[in-house]
Amino acid sequence: MSIKNKIKTKVIDNIHPPVGLLGREDFLDMIDKNTKPYRQLMSFYRCAVMEIETKFRVLDEELSLESEHNPIEGIKSRIKSIDSLVRKMNKKGIPLDITSIEQNIFDIAGVRVICSFPEDIYFLEECLLKQDDIRLIERKDYIKNPKPGGYRSLHLIVEVPIFLQEEKRPMKVEVQLRTIAMDFWASLEHKLRYKKDLDPVLLEELKNELLDCANQSAALDLRMENVRKKIEKEVLK
Ligand code: GTP
Ligand code: MG
Repeated sequence: MSIKNKIKTKVIDNIHPPVGLLGREDFLDMIDKNTKPYRQLMSFYRCAVMEIETKFRVLDEELSLESEHNPIEGIKSRIKSIDSLVRKMNKKGIPLDITSIEQNIFDIAGVRVICSFPEDIYFLEECLLKQDDIRLIERKDYIKNPKPGGYRSLHLIVEVPIFLQEEKRPMKVEVQLRTIAMDFWASLEHKLRYKKDLDPVLLEELKNELLDCANQSAALDLRMENVRKKIEKEVLK
């Protein structure tokens, strides 16, 4: 049974009085009440994603006016699915309740910012972190320290306030900053990660090939960044 169906069954099992004794409206009302805190929390995370996305779009707008250079190639955002959330909580042995979700899982809201050059990543990081409503919770620089498989990106967990009718609520968002080349590599490697029944010899071969691709692609990122710097120097002359 899928996790989603298990949750549905569990909700229905725990409904009092038993479902059979409820009318349709009461049953729907019961489901609504049971799932509301979860839906509300996910809605807060969607608001936090909007806040962070807007901050990056504002920076991109400003920088494109100041210079010819737009540091942001694209932004991809997502809210963690309930399947993947429950799997992660079970793996970490975290109790399945709303408070524990918020206190322990920091990547429910995810914003991925794709840049052209590695330098843009650190520049955008600095611009984001100096904003006075942003609090840095965690930073992992997988560009300076790539993962053994070759993965590169800068990961930040930040807290951003969302303004609701009656309250200001700090929410955590995972921001991943990477170049187009790093993103291209990560998408390809992700495909391999989910291929479960590959021949072990082929798997090893593909991993080595991917590691080589990651190193070559990082070198290419730096070469192209140098070309850009030289062009800019000429323009300024
Ligand atoms: P959890 O947050 O508990 O999952 O572990 P962690 O904090 O050690 O994860 P990390 O910050 O290293 O990575 C979080 C996210 O980065 C993942 O969900 C992926 O989106 C991405 N990521 C990390 N490592 C890899 C990798 O080797 N390959 C690919 N394709 N993506 C990765
Ligand atoms: Mg993480």
